[in-house]
Amino acid sequence: MTAIDRTRQLPRTPLLDWSSFAGSRRLAGLHSIDDIATSCLTTSGRAAIYLALLQLRLDPGSLVLVPTYHCPTMVAPVILAGLRVAYFGIGANGLPQLGTIDAATAARAKAMLVSHYFGHARSLAEVRQWCDARQIALIEDCAHCYFGSAGERPVGTWGDFATASLSKFFPVPEGGVLASANRRIAAPHLNPQGLRAQVKAWADVLESAVTYGRLAGGRWALARLFAIKNRINRTGASGTQEESMAPPDMMLACDMGRITEAPASTAVVLQRLLPRGRMIARRRSNYAAYARHFRQVEGAFPLYREVADDAVPYVFPLWVNDADRVYQSLRALALPVFRWDRIWPDTPALADDVGPSWSQHVLQLLCHQDLSEADVTRTAVTTLDLLSAERCPPASGAG
Ligand SMILES: Cc1ncc(COP(=O)(O)O)c(C=O)c1O
Repeated sequence: MTAIDRTRQLPRTPLLDWSSFAGSRRLAGLHSIDDIATSCLTTSGRAAIYLALLQLRLDPGSLVLVPTYHCPTMVAPVILAGLRVAYFGIGANGLPQLGTIDAATAARAKAMLVSHYFGHARSLAEVRQWCDARQIALIEDCAHCYFGSAGERPVGTWGDFATASLSKFFPVPEGGVLASANRRIAAPHLNPQGLRAQVKAWADVLESAVTYGRLAGGRWALARLFAIKNRINRTGASGTQEESMAPPDMMLACDMGRITEAPASTAVVLQRLLPRGRMIARRRSNYAAYARHFRQVEGAFPLYREVADDAVPYVFPLWVNDADRVYQSLRALALPVFRWDRIWPDTPALADDVGPSWSQHVLQLLCHQDLSEADVTRTAVTTLDLLSAERCPPASGAG
């Protein structure tokens, strides 16, 4: 067995490389957000949620149902749209626990945001029916599911609107999709980004690639481009943001600044141009590699061991008992792992809701196409080492 290189930084997002242009253009029968009849590109998934809410033309202060298991960028668009948030719990399959929504809240709610977590899309038949019976609009958040089926329907086609995040699947710093299978989308007024922002977006794509050793052969030319970008950054610098849990700062940390801008050409061009076959195959194979590593382990278990034939994962969700210690160590080692531990401060504790326990215990191990199997092995083996360190604390020196 070859030794694991523990010094190289591993990328948290897909990277542009020559290989990004290779591979099959076919989706091998998989559905995709690209297939939805009506769509427009946005600057991000959060912008798409915001614009979906605006499409609904709700009265100010209307109630929007949001899951207790969330990242802050799912809540911030609701507040920015001048609406109020009410929470629902989720079950072990990630679907809404509709019983956690009391009758008064259900009667007042005007919209519901439902996410397909981790890339495992589920049928929303029951949720759709529940929303229809109460005239609640359904926004299907496909940030983790660019491809696949959600039960009986293609992903993204249960909702009145579907939203997606390009930066999780494509090598772009930001980008999103607002789509609808059954409604017209009133063209949102999006301000075009200027030349400076466009150049910066391309420089960001290329800089990430070169930082992680991609695009071999083109580095000299790229170095010049980065010099331009860094000059732009210096003139437009706005200071750093501290992370805080208080609502206004949560909003600041969500970086909602460009939600009414048109997407940069990086998103438009690369979303149109890049073949999907490699993304799909590599993600599925990385997920399977994680599943092999975590087949039998004490102190942790995969939430879902397998990916359905018609799904393409975003992350490998791993439940860890001693999650705080393991996650902090993985982050300190800069490994490609997330945890949604920054939940909106007014998130309630609801009976029969796995949301709060997922926020603490579920680690999201990235499995994107630009992590090699060796990268996955390194992340998995490090996690396994940390888990066994819990079971075998270092000798106390006594005796
Ligand atoms: C489930 C979910 N929805 C929406 C978003 C927002 O997507 P973006 O980062 O493109 O704004 C995220 C981002 O992490 C997400 O995980």
